[in-house]
Amino acid sequence: MSKVTQISHPLILHKLAFIRDKNTGAKDFRELVEEVAMLMAYEVTRDLQTEEIEIETPICVTKCKVLSGKKMAIVPILRAGLGMVDGMLKLIPAAKVGHIGLYRDEETLQPVEYFCKLPQDISERDVIVVDPMLATGGSAADAITLLKKRGAKNIRLVCLISAPEGIKVVQEAHPDVDMYFGAIDERLNEQGYIVPGLGDAGDRLFGTK
Ligand code: PRP
Ligand code: URA
Repeated sequence: MSKVTQISHPLILHKLAFIRDKNTGAKDFRELVEEVAMLMAYEVTRDLQTEEIEIETPICVTKCKVLSGKKMAIVPILRAGLGMVDGMLKLIPAAKVGHIGLYRDEETLQPVEYFCKLPQDISERDVIVVDPMLATGGSAADAITLLKKRGAKNIRLVCLISAPEGIKVVQEAHPDVDMYFGAIDERLNEQGYIVPGLGDAGDRLFGTK
C-alpha cells in the first residue's frame, strides 16, 4: 500500500493559508505555490540515496556524501502543475521535466488527455508527478497510468491539497506510488471541488476566470 505523507511544516501551513485565501491575487498565488513546492521538494527527496566520495578541503582530505543512484524527472499535470515546477527545480536542478496535459470534463469530471511529452529515458528516472490539487483522483491516476505505459517505475505524487476521495482512488489504482500533501482536506462538493480547498488552481494561477 502506498505511503501517504502530510507535510505539516509551519512554513507550508502558513503559506497554504494565503494560497487558500480568495483575496490573494494571481502574482502572490503563483509565488506562494512555487515556494510551497520548493519546501515540499525537501521532504519528498528525504530518502534519496547517497554515496561517499573523497574530496580535499583547504585543510585536509575528507570523505563526504553526495547524491547517487537514479536520475530524476519532474512531471507536472497541465496546466496547474506548471506552477510547482520551478520550485521543485530550485532544489533538484538536474531533473528533466516531462509534461502531461489533462483537463477534467466539467460535466463528467473525467480526465481528458491532450498532451504528453516525456524525457526519452523516463524509464530510468525517479519520477515526481506534481499537481496542486488531488480531487476525485482521476487526473493523477490517469497521468500515473500513462507514465507506467511509457516505462516509468518509481513514481511519487506531490500535491498541495488533496481530498480523501482522491487519495483512495490513487491508492487503489497505484498502490506502489507514495503520495505527499501539504494538506488533506475534508471532502469534495457536488461540483467535485475540494472543501475548503482553494478553488480552481489553474484559473487562479493563470488568471483565466
Ligand atoms: C485540476 C487540477 C488537477 C485536477 C484535479 O485541473 O490541477 O489536475 O483538476 O481534479 P481530479 O482529481 O478530480 O482529476 P483542471 O482539470 O481544472 O485543469 P487545469 O489545470 O488546466 O485548470
Ligand atoms: N481542481 C481544482 O483546481 N480545484 C479543485 O478543488 C478540484 C479540482
